[in-house]
Amino acid sequence: MARVAFVTGGIGGIGTAICTRLVHDGFTVVANHHPSECEIAEAWKKDRAAEGITIDTYSADVSSFEDTGRMIAEIVAAHGPIEVLVNCAGITRDTTFKKMQPAQWNAVINVNLNSVFNVTRQVWDGMLERGYGRIVNISSVNGQRGQFGQTNYSAAKAGMHGFTMALAQEGAAKGITVNTISPGYVETAMTLAMDDKVRNSIIGGIPMRRMAQPAEIASAVAFLAADANGYVTGANIPVNGGLFMH
Ligand code: CAA
Repeated sequence: MARVAFVTGGIGGIGTAICTRLVHDGFTVVANHHPSECEIAEAWKKDRAAEGITIDTYSADVSSFEDTGRMIAEIVAAHGPIEVLVNCAGITRDTTFKKMQPAQWNAVINVNLNSVFNVTRQVWDGMLERGYGRIVNISSVNGQRGQFGQTNYSAAKAGMHGFTMALAQEGAAKGITVNTISPGYVETAMTLAMDDKVRNSIIGGIPMRRMAQPAEIASAVAFLAADANGYVTGANIPVNGGLFMH
């Protein structure tokens, strides 16, 4: 039986590439989207079907523990236990700290960081019982180096890797790996939302002089999700075109 892989934010720019790659690698893939995106998700499913790929989508606000719990129970009832979890849901509310309001801070911490607790907590016990699991947290180069205008986002993304390192220790002797991927700037709606001037100046500072393609992030996820790569845990894999090296 194919292992079930669940991707939060699965219909987004990076999420879509992750879902399609994991299907090609033989997983049964289930994608989450926000409740406000039901129509987009239906169209997304049709697009995937046209590519010959079947991916079920489930709506839930992953910043809510209760709503996430409801969704996970539905997924497990329909598809069986989740053995691969990719925490990919994320948003930006960029602004200088001087202008940042509590709503902008809280939205980013809730969606980007608290969601990681909300989802992982609800698949963890099953992974422990079965003695198998792969958890991949999609962080960001900006969690590693900070970014002007992103105190909220950088804090959440840095927090994700702290979570990864701590949980990796709890899962290490139980067959569960927990890892972070820190993408650089990726060609998606999120980076397109930036002002042209800001975006071009960022690209100019990337040693490879280009943004990543979503498939280049998905390829790193596929590596960490594979049965064969059970000895990598607590790692933070940068996929950033050389933007940050350490
Ligand atoms: N370092 C130091 N100073 C900077 C700076 C930087 N990186 N960027 C701008 N400044 C300075 C400017 O020169 C300007 O100085 P003066 O007031 O002296 O002229 C001042 O800061 C204000 O700059 P802006 O005009 O940019 O301010 P703004 O309020 O119009 O915009 C902002 C602020 C929205 C945060 C804008 O700077 C911005 O969009 N920055 C990019 C943020 C970013 O990288 N977001 C990533 C989104 S994609 C993503 O998050 C995915 C991922 O994981 C990588």
